[in-house]
Amino acid sequence: MLRTVSATRYVTPLREGGSLPALVEASDDGLYVTKLRGAGQGPKALVAEVICGELARALGLPVPELALVDLPVELSHAEPDPEIQELLQASAGLNLGLDFLPGALPYTPVGRVQPTPEQAADIVWFDTWTENVDRTPRNPNLVVWHGAPWLIDHGAALYRQHQPDGLGGGGGRFPLSAQHVLLPVAASIADADGRLRPRVDRALLERVVGLVPTDWLGDVPAALYVEDLLARLDGDRPWVAGAEEARTGA
Ligand SMILES: Nc1ncnc2c1ncn2[C@@H]1O[C@H](COP(=O)(O)OP(=O)(O)O)[C@@H](O)[C@H]1O
Ligand SMILES: [Mg+2]
Repeated sequence: MLRTVSATRYVTPLREGGSLPALVEASDDGLYVTKLRGAGQGPKALVAEVICGELARALGLPVPELALVDLPVELSHAEPDPEIQELLQASAGLNLGLDFLPGALPYTPVGRVQPTPEQAADIVWFDTWTENVDRTPRNPNLVVWHGAPWLIDHGAALYRQHQPDGLGGGGGRFPLSAQHVLLPVAASIADADGRLRPRVDRALLERVVGLVPTDWLGDVPAALYVEDLLARLDGDRPWVAGAEEARTGA
């Protein structure tokens, strides 16, 4: 189970990305970057955040703690900006919070803090498996905190969930891994596959998909996420070869 906290104060919108996440103070005095259910991307973006955030964590990648943030409708009443008031109203109830990393800075490819080549390869492998379209130089969705890179924003992963009958078959290659921000500093993706593939099984997938509040799934059965991510790990996995070819320029 993800922890649930109750929002007590809307602090500010984070305007960097498109989804207008909220910085929210909660009942445990913590600050949470909160992905709102009523934002344009819809609840499926929150589904991807939960599944991919917890899968990344299970694979040893650094991700801020996730919690469910219960938003009382009263919080919207105090909000003067009509755009934000509407967003908060549409999001009353459960939303997804990421522990706010104070003082985190954006990751840049020329910065001093870089992942090790193996860690970069693990992240490329992970984003290729989960089909995350959003870890590019233009939009790295990595922050630097306490001298290390941290993964944020998995809302655009699992993108086939937005297509009718998109999930189930596991998809194929993922050409966008050629544009992954960490590909230039990554070690072998085939070796990353050897490290990470054995760490994923059905029980892990069922556990992380089980963390998603059922309401967010809409008419997509939870089991389809499990089957799709497992199917992607079966057989010859052309997406691994594709990422490795992109890395070596083969
Ligand atoms: N856990 C966090 N701690 C600190 N800052 C964060 C955290 N999560 C996101 N941010 C900041 O907020 C910005 C927007 O968050 P992000 O999750 O990328 O949302 P969007 O969907 O808008 O792209 C990020 O670029 C980053 O600067
Ligand atoms: Mg983002």
